[in-house]
Amino acid sequence: MTPTPDQFTVVSPGRVNLIGEHTDYNDGFVLPLAIDRGLRIVVRRRPDQRVLLSTDRGDSPVQFDLGTPLVPGRTDWGRYVAGVLAGYQRLGWAIPGFEASITADLPAGGGLSSSAALEVGIATVIETLCGQSLDAIATALMCQQAEHEFAGVPCGIMDQFAVKLARRGHALFIDCRSRDIAHVPLGGGIAVLVIDSGVKHALGDGSYAARRRECETAARLLGRPALRDVSCVEWPDVERLLSDPERRRARHVVTENDRVCAFAAAARAGDWPTVGRLMNESHASLRDNFEVSCHELDCICEVIQRLDGVCGCRMTGGGFGGCAVALIDGSRASSVEAAARAACATALGYEPEVFLTTAAAGARREEPARSTF
Ligand code: GLA
Repeated sequence: MTPTPDQFTVVSPGRVNLIGEHTDYNDGFVLPLAIDRGLRIVVRRRPDQRVLLSTDRGDSPVQFDLGTPLVPGRTDWGRYVAGVLAGYQRLGWAIPGFEASITADLPAGGGLSSSAALEVGIATVIETLCGQSLDAIATALMCQQAEHEFAGVPCGIMDQFAVKLARRGHALFIDCRSRDIAHVPLGGGIAVLVIDSGVKHALGDGSYAARRRECETAARLLGRPALRDVSCVEWPDVERLLSDPERRRARHVVTENDRVCAFAAAARAGDWPTVGRLMNESHASLRDNFEVSCHELDCICEVIQRLDGVCGCRMTGGGFGGCAVALIDGSRASSVEAAARAACATALGYEPEVFLTTAAAGARREEPARSTF
């Protein structure tokens, strides 16, 4: 048996979603990618059952005693960690104590899945310490469960799947009902630009859960298990069975599922004009039908969509603030990035953080281990 390490580093990425927003909890389709920014967790095993964690962000350190079963109740960032530790405790795993320092180059509350990066990162730490692993999908589902129970956010499976299962150079197509995945290559000709509106979002404040309830009501009124089961073709005939806001929420989900499939096909064919049009349509639908955008994200998308060298631009993630994502011509990425920064600064009256990123691999142990202890 290979000995389990006492000191090691785990890298856990954030994600941007290229298309398929608010479709995951409707059993639909999504197409995120993991990015080359995220969390770096430097770990040292302890001889006891205590877990001590600190960050470089000025958050208070958190600690846990693994001698007792962990239960929901915390309100600080430790709730995500507690949820994951509890998941492995319930499986009967003997988790050793450890301490870890976490550094991040991901904006917290920026819609790039800092919480999923923390959950899946901690799961990777536990699996490395214990020298055994769950199946990747089981790990992602356990992390989603942690977010439901310990953070009170009824999220879908997209973020944890992307952070766990992404592949370098690829976006991840997920059928959120069957949980089938496919890695969609992103050719070198295209680059990914992220624009952080700087507006902090908090999915735990109830608006995310409210959207989810509206979608479930719409599906029930249409007599379908989920909005996934309504096609674009039949939508004109069934939409009169709904009234607003459910009608517009459902219209978004039904059309967005179609856009994800069309996007994946167009990306595989290198048809970037079609990809861009679908991204722009997705943003308009999130703004007008799903109502999860905000003034700043609308401004950013409007000015960036008009720039030369841009295929398309849309808000990404749960919304109510956070980031926008654009796909741009990879051969002139730096000049498009500079133009985007300038155009956003003029439109917004402040300069948002704008950065180029690439499709990275999911959470992993970094080799060789680097320790700051
Ligand atoms: C958040 C949730 C995801 C997904 C997106 C919206 O990121 O965690 O499950 O629902 O919002 O697409």
